[in-house]
This record gives sequence, structure tokens and C-alpha cells, in this order.
Amino acid sequence: MRGYLGKKSVLVTALLASTSIAQAADVEVLHWWTSGGEAAALNVLKTDLAGQSIGWVDMPVAGGGGEAAMTTLRARVTAGNAPTAVQMLGFDILDWAAEGKLANLNDVAAEEGWDAVVPAALQGFAKFEGNWVSAPVNVHSTNWVWANKAILDELGIAQPESWDDFVVALQKVKDAGKVALAHGGQAWQDATVFDSAVLSVGGTDFYTKAFVELDEQALGSDQMVEVFNRMATLRGFVDSNFSGRDWNLASAMVINGEAAFQIMGDWAKGEFLNAGKVPGDDFLCFRVPGTQGAVSFNSDQFAMFAQADAGAQTAQGEMARAIMSPSFQSAFNVVKGSVPARTDVPNDAFDACGKQGMVDLADAAANGRLVGSIAHGHANPAAVKNAIYDVVTAHFNGEYDAATAAANLVNEVMAAQ
Ligand code: BGC
Repeated sequence: MRGYLGKKSVLVTALLASTSIAQAADVEVLHWWTSGGEAAALNVLKTDLAGQSIGWVDMPVAGGGGEAAMTTLRARVTAGNAPTAVQMLGFDILDWAAEGKLANLNDVAAEEGWDAVVPAALQGFAKFEGNWVSAPVNVHSTNWVWANKAILDELGIAQPESWDDFVVALQKVKDAGKVALAHGGQAWQDATVFDSAVLSVGGTDFYTKAFVELDEQALGSDQMVEVFNRMATLRGFVDSNFSGRDWNLASAMVINGEAAFQIMGDWAKGEFLNAGKVPGDDFLCFRVPGTQGAVSFNSDQFAMFAQADAGAQTAQGEMARAIMSPSFQSAFNVVKGSVPARTDVPNDAFDACGKQGMVDLADAAANGRLVGSIAHGHANPAAVKNAIYDVVTAHFNGEYDAATAAANLVNEVMAAQ
């Protein structure tokens, strides 16, 4: 009898142990999706995971572009308390992978066939030394304009096709006494606009030479001076309260009819949708005039920080699997404003802006006109990115002229490498 019980309890213990290995723990997710539209998209993810019994511990760190989130992350990892999953961009993923902090997702990637469906440009940031270290949730792009349709109709402004047309349109709005360009003076927002200014002047060849290859001549060229001149032109169309304003409050100015245009990544669409606005009826989305055909992209990925606990590891694998499922990629990106990170997701559920985003992305990738966003960490590691931010923002705030900005850019970028 005693022997039987003993065997049984061994069996029970073994079963419990195996359950605890198989059972997913909660995931603690560090992210910067705190605006109305972002929170709505985040809910799609939370609900999806809840449906699969993966618990969610929220770790939001507000601040567009994710700089504050990355500072918090560094502190957490240094304290030996890394979150399970972290929203991350581009070179930051590769940096953490190089530090040996990220989990290996090869098993789930192989089971789900990620290699075949994730575009090469994204794999370049999701894989480190051939191993999958993060799960891409979307593709955003930064060279978009969001426009209030009623204001354009009222002022008889047609959708501008060239940079010069755009400047004429901005002037018309300004002359009518409205804010022409809604903008928030934060370094990452200035840099987001800068992505488009660079593309508008020199296309993707110049963009790549200057900001990917960091070619000294291109960085200090006359074309670069022209880029800064265009930034100064745009500066002339923002309102006097732009300093420090959050990006979603700038979007709200366009939504509410206070301002005509915003140059911002397609996460801005999430704000319009969240406010019940309809593309084509209430607002227009179009590529920054002069950048058509090019796409400056950034992809939000969830990097998984290596965990000792088996339940946490299981949860990471399940979260990665859930993120990459085609149905989730559709449901999430429809709300977020981005497009799917997989090439095989149908576009049926997407609105006109989303459909255009998908076509533009495929076209730019096929024709060598897809470039990583400078502003959102897809062109350079953080040190160089921050050096560019410093110059762009100082110039935007009138600290020096365009020629000085181009010269400073060369010095700062060279020093940051
Ligand atoms: C992220 C977006 C986010 C935006 C504003 C970008 O860096 O890729 O997902 O919505 O910042 O917070």
C-alpha cells in the first residue's frame, strides 16, 4: 500500500512538474503605446493573448519614438530584472542581441515558417547571427502627410503632388489664419519630418549614401544644405506653441480642424480612426509630396529577453507565435495604422490608406526604394541616431542656419561612430 502511494505521489509530482514547464506564465510587456489609437491597438494584442490564456502585465513608458522606454529598459536589465517582451525598433534589437540578452526564437520561427513570409528588410533586424531574436508585429512608414479634408475643400486646395505644391498649399492655409502644419517640437518628431525632407531632396540614393553609408561628402553636401532649408521652410508653418507638444496632440489639431496638415508616421492614422474619422471623407493620407515611390520604414518588433523560468520561456514562444499569426497581423494593423509584417496577409480588412501602404511597401521593396527610418532607429545604431537628432533639432529651433547644420552634421556623425 505504502509502495503504491509512493509511486502515485511520484507520478503526481512528475505531472505537476511537466505542467509547470508546459504552462505559460504571464508576460510582462514593456512598450510605449500610450496614445488613444495606440492603446486601442494594444488592446487587440492583449485580447488575443488572453484568449490563449497568456496573462498580461503592463509596463507602459510614455514617449513617442520609444526613447524613454529604452532608458527604462536599460535600467531594468542592469538591475537583473528584464521584462519578458519589449517593443523595440531596428538597431536597438541588434544591439541587445549582441549583448547576449535576447532569447532564441528559432523553434517557433521554424514551426511557423517565418523565413518564407517575413520580408528580408525586417529579417535584417529580427535575426542576429542567423537566429530569430524578435517577432515583428508591423511595418510603419514615416513619409506620410495627414490632412484635414474640410479645410482643404474650404480653401480649394488639391492634394499637392510636388514639394513646391506642398509649400504653396501650406502658405494658403497660413494666409487663411489657420495652423498650416501641426507639429510637436520633440527631437524624434523633428527627425521624423527630416526623414521626408531628405527623401524629397535626393531620393533613396542620396538618403542611403548620407544616412546609411554615412558618406562624409553626402552628409556635408549642397543637397544636405537644401534638406535643412526645407526643414526651415516647414518651421515657418508651425504654430507658436509647438515646443514639446506630443505627436498625438498634433494629430488632434488636424482631427479637430485646427490645423490642415501633419507629417507623421502612419501611427497617426490610429488617432484619426480612434476619433471616428474616415479616410477619404474626413481626412486624407498621402506620401509627403516629392517622396512618392520611396518608403522610409520602421517595424515594431517584440524582442524577448532571455528568461531562466521555463513558464516564462513558454509564454514568450506563445506570444511570438500569436503575434505572427496572419489573422492577428490583420486585426492589429488595421487599428494601429501600420501594415502587416508578413507578406501573405490579405488586404481586405484595411482601409484605403492601409491598402496604399501595403502596395507602396511591396513596390518600394521590389524596386530598391525601401529605406530604414533615420528617426526610428532603422538607419543607424542609437549613438549615430542621437547625433543626427541633436543637429536636426538645434537647426529646427533656429540655433544655426542650414549651411552650419550640414557642417555640424558631418562632425557629429563622424564623432558618434
Ligand atoms: C513606433 C510606433 C509608435 C510611434 C509613436 C514609433 O517609433 O514605431 O509604433 O506608435 O513611435 O509612439
